[in-house]
Amino acid sequence: MKKITKTAIVLLLNLLLITGCGSSTFTEEKTEESESPKNLITVGFSQLGAESDWRNTNTLSMQSSFTEENGFNLIYKNGQQKQANQITAIRTFIQQGVDYIVLAPVMESGWDTVLEEARDAEIPVILVDRRVDVADKSLYSCWVGSDFELEGRKMAAWIKAYTEKKGVAPEDVHVVNLQGTLGSTAQIGRTRALANAARENGWDLLAEVSADFTETKGREVMSGLLKRFDNINVVYCENDNEAIGAIEAIESAGRHVGTNISYGDIMVVSFDGVNEESMEFCKEGKISCIAECNPHHGPRVQALIESLESGETPEKFNYVDEKLFSSVKAIPSVTVDGVEYDVEEP
Ligand code: AHR
Repeated sequence: MKKITKTAIVLLLNLLLITGCGSSTFTEEKTEESESPKNLITVGFSQLGAESDWRNTNTLSMQSSFTEENGFNLIYKNGQQKQANQITAIRTFIQQGVDYIVLAPVMESGWDTVLEEARDAEIPVILVDRRVDVADKSLYSCWVGSDFELEGRKMAAWIKAYTEKKGVAPEDVHVVNLQGTLGSTAQIGRTRALANAARENGWDLLAEVSADFTETKGREVMSGLLKRFDNINVVYCENDNEAIGAIEAIESAGRHVGTNISYGDIMVVSFDGVNEESMEFCKEGKISCIAECNPHHGPRVQALIESLESGETPEKFNYVDEKLFSSVKAIPSVTVDGVEYDVEEP
């Protein structure tokens, strides 16, 4: 792979930073040049942000895999949840002449041009976690991540099984959805799964509002929804950080969080299963069910790069297996598309 003169690039990047045109929002990443010690593979990783515990665990997983001991020189950039920052990061990686670009995209749309630039520079792009919606799928080599819609369908199956078991009529299931970052693959899949289940089962889907996958917004959005609706009994949070914020809002409003929805409880369900507090909440029953979203993609992306390095063509789409967690014993498993998924103890 080609390498552009590094000294010139460092000077140019420094100049951009000094003149204020650089990526001044990138505060955590390595800032040194891409100079790669002999035989190391240089990987530019554009992480979308640090919005959740899931994300931080994912970043650590990537950093632990792309080490010098493993044969890599990692250049990490945090996009601070802004697509423009990620596009700048990719353009910087191209200028630096990295060997591979790994992209965890904040949202699906808007990547065609910059990925064409990477292709023109002959730098393979690997997607991790979320996906991009581009007309030409050859703009990236492969993707590894979760089936977000399946996660949502498993959760909807659990809600259906639980409410039926407790004799709650479908029209008495009053759900609000605290969505993730709008336009992200995780949000699109999980939102679609709930909306379809609500329509098919006759549930009352009161509102869908984005809480951006953060605890602060989870609290704010939930507090607003409790003022708008007095009959909410199921809160579908599209990640655990939102759930933690939502639980705080529910309890501050004097309501009880739990599974006893026929007797006034508000039931919270969520996604990830990474954060210790949320797993503790799941044990205590404050979160009734968590659909796992696995963040440990570092070794998986490393294997994909190693496969490309040895001239192989890895599978285009690589899914990870994920579990459901709940301390409610009444629902030992759920079935989606004929496949049975065990519900495990948190
Ligand atoms: O894309 C994965 C999602 O992004 C996780 O569920 C969420 O916690 C994160 O912010």
